[in-house]
Amino acid sequence: MKSKTTVVILAAGLGTRMRSGKAKVLHQAAGDTLLNHVIRAALHVALPEHIVAVIGHQAEQVMASVNTPGVLFAHQEEQNGTGHAVLCCKDLIASRPGNLLILNGDGPLLKPETLKALVALQEERAGGGHIVSTEVAEPAGYGRIVRNASGDIAAVVEEKAATPAQRAICEINSGVYIFNGPLFWKYIDELKPENAAHEYYLTDMVEILGRHGHSVTPMLVADETELLGINTRAELAVADRILRKRKNHELMLSGVTIESPDSVLIDFGVTVGLDTLIGANVQLRGTTSVGAGCSIGAGSILRDCAVSDEVKILPYVVAENTRIGKGAAVGPFARFRQSVELGEDVHIGNFVELKKTTLRAGAKANHLAYLGDSTIGNRVNVGAGTITCNYDGKSKFPTEIGDDVFVGSNSTLVAPLRLGSGSYVAAGSVITDDVDSDALALGRERQVNKPGWAKRRRERNRAKDGEARK
Ligand code: UD1
Ligand code: CA
Repeated sequence: MKSKTTVVILAAGLGTRMRSGKAKVLHQAAGDTLLNHVIRAALHVALPEHIVAVIGHQAEQVMASVNTPGVLFAHQEEQNGTGHAVLCCKDLIASRPGNLLILNGDGPLLKPETLKALVALQEERAGGGHIVSTEVAEPAGYGRIVRNASGDIAAVVEEKAATPAQRAICEINSGVYIFNGPLFWKYIDELKPENAAHEYYLTDMVEILGRHGHSVTPMLVADETELLGINTRAELAVADRILRKRKNHELMLSGVTIESPDSVLIDFGVTVGLDTLIGANVQLRGTTSVGAGCSIGAGSILRDCAVSDEVKILPYVVAENTRIGKGAAVGPFARFRQSVELGEDVHIGNFVELKKTTLRAGAKANHLAYLGDSTIGNRVNVGAGTITCNYDGKSKFPTEIGDDVFVGSNSTLVAPLRLGSGSYVAAGSVITDDVDSDALALGRERQVNKPGWAKRRRERNRAKDGEARK
């Protein structure tokens, strides 16, 4: 069935009402662009190589933003209306038999089931085509569906051209259409820009096909939220909320526990495994994947992270580009950035910052540390307060720590530096030179104890105070 349908997605407009320097279809809801959401829905009824996006404004960026390989592009240099946009695909697809499905690029909430129903309807009831319509309380801004006596569509009338009686019609054109492809292309040249906007309106095809005896019929859908077209940032926020709600729901049905789902933001591209628990106010962004049996503590924010199974993330961990191995425990209050890799069973505690750093299996940094540009071996213990001095004000330098090293608390590791495996750094050291395997490095003054010194000082002070009072 998929191979019989060709899809055109209209995405060439700037979207003036967004008030943005960025083309409308590049704006994001639930972590993906409006256009990618529409493509994702279209993939349920068509193959990628049968989907054409019509692009114009910021064509390069729009093409680069599409994350489905194989999708085709047609260029609409000047935006002369939705009908003109479809016309720009003529050379590419007019010879294709079967259905022509047309979608507005600014409708990210469309459900696959609706598209499947629309295609099925067109297959079973041949004719000019079908338009998905819905009844809304506030139809302002949408094209109104004017029906004829037999229930087919006589015309779609745009707001600007509508009479007061037509404006009162609550059934609107959602911008989702299916046509008999060969018939559509046969008559498309009859479209004329004869309206106030001097644009070629795709919606005029309804009258044209009707005139030739091929009626177009509405498919009335009850859930209007699914058909929301995004024209302003306020509508973008509504779409974002609906998409995230759907994502959370889908995850919960698949075996993920989400505490306080209304507070949790999970992007569309994120995956989460069975029996993982997600706390309140968590954000999982970008391409993040979380394995099974994990817990993600309240307020944690993960972007583009790969978390293996049975990982415990305590509250308020902020991480990007981080891979966390099975059984590791991190947080609370830890920060990982710019490519971090944690092996199995690694422990990272509170107030630890990691930048471009790897800790191999079983390594620990449990309190208050900054480790940057460093590689840390298996089972290493990094003491509280350890700092890698990776930056001299001009360049960055690496620190390499071998397996089974013990770094005492409050050590300052001045890079470039290597600590050989099994070595031991005394607490409070400033280490500037490489340390051999199994050696002890002391980088501080030896302690001097002076017996009785404190007592003598007290007595001296007391004597002075006595003199002063006299
Ligand atoms: C359109 C419909 C309207 C419908 C509404 C649903 C027409 C004439 N009107 O109105 O009946 O109720 O959608 O949301 O079709 N585009 C191009 N090239 C152009 C013009 C537009 O690619 O020359 C693209 C836009 O980028 C956008 C889509 O087509 O993604 C719809 O355009 P928009 O201007 O938002 O149409 P509406 O006024 O909302
Ligand atoms: Ca629109």
